[in-house]
Amino acid sequence: MLGWLLQRVAQALLVIVAMSLVVFLGMHAIGNPADILLAPDATQADRAELIAQLGLDRPLWQQYLSFAGSALQGDLGRSFVYNVPAVTLILQRLPATLELAIAATAFSVIFGVPLLFFVLTGRVERKLWLPLAGIFLLGGLQGAIGWWMVSSGLEARTDVSQYRLATHLVTACLIFAACMWFMRALSPHSNEPPPTRYSAKLAGLIAFMALFQIYLGALVAGLDAGLSYNTWPLMDGAVVPSDLFIQSPAWINFFENPKTVQFVHRLGAYAIFIVVAINMIVSLRAAPQTTHARRSVVLFVLVLIQAILGISTLLLHVPLDLALAHQGGALVVFGFAIANWRGFYGELPRQTSIVVRD
Ligand code: HEM
Repeated sequence: MLGWLLQRVAQALLVIVAMSLVVFLGMHAIGNPADILLAPDATQADRAELIAQLGLDRPLWQQYLSFAGSALQGDLGRSFVYNVPAVTLILQRLPATLELAIAATAFSVIFGVPLLFFVLTGRVERKLWLPLAGIFLLGGLQGAIGWWMVSSGLEARTDVSQYRLATHLVTACLIFAACMWFMRALSPHSNEPPPTRYSAKLAGLIAFMALFQIYLGALVAGLDAGLSYNTWPLMDGAVVPSDLFIQSPAWINFFENPKTVQFVHRLGAYAIFIVVAINMIVSLRAAPQTTHARRSVVLFVLVLIQAILGISTLLLHVPLDLALAHQGGALVVFGFAIANWRGFYGELPRQTSIVVRD
């Protein structure tokens, strides 16, 4: 055990030295670091002075050794952007980094270790290897997107960018959708035929509409667009409010104008509501008493509750508990929409099956 531990520590040290060398040499490979730091109007004298001040005129190996020596004593130099010690900046970001590292490790342990165990012991069918590995990789990608999102709130602004928030939420939804899809595929299905030949396509459309609505919701939350125009059904005193395209170019209003973003989120909700209502009426009339018809009713009720939650969140000026219930409700709607969609394609054929005789 001790030998293994020492071996791992030695490996880690080797990786740190190798990485520091790569970064150090990489920085010099793209030119003299002084040129990156100097203002465009700096003179040759300014340049020479900075090079001498930073010791950039010494041979490269000497520069690396003096950097490594200071690093060993806990001095990583000063940040040129913030003009504070680099260690202070690293420590400031440490809690968020640790949170992310712990969450990512927990995810990989909870999902990855059992997956590997079941694959190695032959308990997972071959055709599921790729989809399950894909879900695992999406989880890793989500970790990176999460950091990209959080970092947008660490620099010039104190909140995160609405674009990155939306990307993060949509990726989370895709992982969730993939889990729901395969879970539903592996569970028992009824043999009842779909109510109409369009039912499966309509179910897919509803799932995509729910995902798009979630994307719009993330833009609303990211822009704090729910804190203004807190009336319903009218918005700013009208069904279709004015100044929806006040920013230029016009398309930017769909992403950056809180009024337009909130209005489009409302329109998206009305559209989903109408489609799930039609889906329910058609299913109940064409195939009453079937599992497909029952699912269409559940979906309608879930969207209705979600719309009521959204309207209440808006009218009450976004209290945290309601906003969270609305966000969680969106996942319930979306998860059910995915399971409903997969429900039309029958159970995934098994490579092996167990026949129980009595
Ligand atoms: C199927 C219907 C709906 C879905 C799936 C949905 C989905 C979402 C999601 C996922 C978010 C939050 C994203 C985040 O926090 O990152 C959100 C935010 C929001 N939604 Fe909806 N929504 C729906 C209907 C509505 C309706 C009808 C209204 C009001 C007219 C509404 C008002 C809001 C408001 C005000 C927020 C911002 C809350 C905040 O700032 O935290 N939503 N929506």
